[in-house]
Amino acid sequence: MNTATADRLHPPMWDHQWYPLTRLRSLVEEFIADHGRGGHAIDLGSGDAPYRSLFERARWRYTACDIDGDPDVLIQPGRPVPLPDGTAGIVVSFQVLEHVGDLDAYLGECRRLLRPGGVMLLTTHGNWPFHPHPTDYRRWTPMGLRLELEERGFVIERLDALIGPPAWMANYALLALHELGRGRGRVVRGAIASACVAGNGLIVTADRLTPPRFRESDPSLLAVRARPS
Ligand SMILES: C[S@@+](CC[C@H](N)C(=O)[O-])C[C@H]1O[C@@H](n2cnc3c(N)ncnc32)[C@H](O)[C@@H]1O
Repeated sequence: MNTATADRLHPPMWDHQWYPLTRLRSLVEEFIADHGRGGHAIDLGSGDAPYRSLFERARWRYTACDIDGDPDVLIQPGRPVPLPDGTAGIVVSFQVLEHVGDLDAYLGECRRLLRPGGVMLLTTHGNWPFHPHPTDYRRWTPMGLRLELEERGFVIERLDALIGPPAWMANYALLALHELGRGRGRVVRGAIASACVAGNGLIVTADRLTPPRFRESDPSLLAVRARPS
């Protein structure tokens, strides 16, 4: 596991993305625990495959697929993933959907790759700053994400809407501080790291105090478990 991947799984508390990354890892761990051991898991838009070790530890055969980088399976843009229909018991997609231009093609591939009875875990953003990889097209409300998936032949089993407005507003401040610290000296970066530790504590408290209906109507992070209909 490289340093970037280790930090992604276990970010230090001075990381400006500590809270969303920690919530994401818990989501993935819970999903894996709920789906037993073994079988084939495909990560569609894997990037550096930060969750590979979690799947492999649970004896899933994990295949990273992406249009970019050095994945197990490189996808040619605009072409299907070069894997047979019904290959996987699990398809996962972490923070990819907002970067996808053609939702029909992408979600169609997620469905095609699932074997009958298979399940997809897809996470994406509600409120979050612009972050092109290499593009960044959309944000979702819980209602909107549900509609997009149902219209493309998925049945939603569970939708988690995480990180409510007080927490994500505070997190925006940490993201802004991080940007301001780029290229600055050690003293400024040290001060920003200290502010992030304090800010992350505030974020946790704010999210705990946020009424669930407020958090669930306007979240920062969305996670859906869905099966082909
Ligand atoms: C923000 S990164 C997330 C990477 C990884 N899932 C993670 O959680 O770290 C978005 C990834 O989606 C990939 N991507 C964008 N459009 C895609 C598409 N149509 N099919 C597959 N991957 C795509 C990008 O190349 C990039 O690696």
